[in-house]
Amino acid sequence: MAVDIIPSGQACGAEIANIDISKPVPDRDAETIYRAFLEHQVIFFRNQEITPTDQRRVCSIFGEVGSYNRPKDRQHPKHASDEVMLISNVVEDGKVIGAHPDGEMMWHTDTPYLATPHKATTLYSVEVPSVGGNTKFSNQYAVYEALTDNLKSELQGKTAMNCYEFGTTVKTFDRYDRESVPHHPHPVLRKHPETGKTAVYVCPLMTEEITGMDEEESKNVLSLIYSLQAEERFIYEHIWKVGDMIIWDNRCLLHARTDFPREQRRLLRRVTVSDDHAVMGA
Ligand code: SIN
Repeated sequence: MAVDIIPSGQACGAEIANIDISKPVPDRDAETIYRAFLEHQVIFFRNQEITPTDQRRVCSIFGEVGSYNRPKDRQHPKHASDEVMLISNVVEDGKVIGAHPDGEMMWHTDTPYLATPHKATTLYSVEVPSVGGNTKFSNQYAVYEALTDNLKSELQGKTAMNCYEFGTTVKTFDRYDRESVPHHPHPVLRKHPETGKTAVYVCPLMTEEITGMDEEESKNVLSLIYSLQAEERFIYEHIWKVGDMIIWDNRCLLHARTDFPREQRRLLRRVTVSDDHAVMGA
């Protein structure tokens, strides 16, 4: 049976049905899945039972598995890994086993504070709360299209500085300490290397300023963009069920997490895909 692509009917997102990803994916299906990823920006498989090895194998449809930079001293000794990061509030031996354990997470893309950010991210759900902890995705091609022509031309060729202190989920202060955290400038308007389309590439959790712009103006422009990015019309919201695997394109999407009850367990496995294209301006 051929794989089925079922669009979410929202601003992005599609389910890929009729496939068991615990087994190697035939080439023809892998091509269909890759095309759906480029078209819908975030795709998901329901009811899967997969191991970390299976998850890495699915990642290889999209590129090379990425490594991440969570400091080793913050990893749980039993679950330490360079490739598989747990996102979890589950506690074992008195220590939480995963990163970003509780609460809401602000809009962001993954690793824009590196010279070559990760191309894609996968999450696989092992345990989910009965309510909340949803992952939302905001379509940055559509946000670009919604900017006024004046703002589009003002932002053409501009870069913004992206910084991050690992573990921050909600930024309630003005600036990270740049001396001690990774940071990197990237174009505000990014040209997607495969679709050729333009996406907005700034986010409230990690972008701090538009380089070379007056401080007040940079704040105003960024806050206008941040409020557009959070508008319902640009969003697909994923309500997790156990056994979902999701993969999204960090080059043209932001993601965020909704709050959930702290006393309920949530455990997701995260593996990324590294990029072999340099970041390009639009
Ligand atoms: C993340 O953004 O790294 C985690 C998203 C989630 O927990 O849903």
